[in-house]
Amino acid sequence: MNRTGAWAGLLLLGLVSACAAQLVRPTSLHGSWAAERWPGTTLAELERGRELYVRRCGGCHALQLPARRPDLDWERSVREMTARSRTPIAPEEADAITRFLVTVAGAAREAEADSSSSTSAAALP
Ligand code: HEC
Repeated sequence: MNRTGAWAGLLLLGLVSACAAQLVRPTSLHGSWAAERWPGTTLAELERGRELYVRRCGGCHALQLPARRPDLDWERSVREMTARSRTPIAPEEADAITRFLVTVAGAAREAEADSSSSTSAAALP
C-alpha cells in the first residue's frame, strides 16, 4: 500500500469507529421499554443487539443511528438488509438487532413527543 492509501485507510477506520461511538448504548430504561413490547427481553440482549449491529451492519455503509431516524421502519430495514448481506445473519441475530434498533428509535420517538407536548403546554397562556 502506498502512503496515500495508508492514510486513506486510517481515515476510513477513524470514521467507522466514530460512528460506532455515537451509537446509543442501551440503558435500563430501554430494557423496560423492550420488555413491555417483547416480554422477557433483557438489557443484556439489547447490548448484544447493539454489538451485532456494529459488527454485521457496518460493513457496507456507515451505521445509521436509530435515535436520529425514529421515523424509519427498522424492522423492515433489518429484514431487507439481512437478505442482502453476503455474510449470513442468523434469524436470532437479526431478531436481536431488530429489538435494539426498534427500542432505541421508539424511545427517541416517545422522548420527542414528550418534549413537544410539554413545550406546547408551556406555551399556553
Ligand atoms: C451488502 C451490503 C449491506 C449490508 C451488509 C447492510 N446494508 Fe444497509 N444498505 C445497503 C445499501 C446499498 C443501502 C442504500 C439504500 C438502498 O439501496 O436501500 C443501504 C441502506 C440502509 C438503510 C437506509 C434506508 C433508508 O431508508 O434511509 C438502513 C437503515 C440500513 N441500510 C440498515 C442496515 C442494517 C440494519 C443492516 C444489518 C442488518 C445493514 N443495513 C446491512 C447495503 C448494506
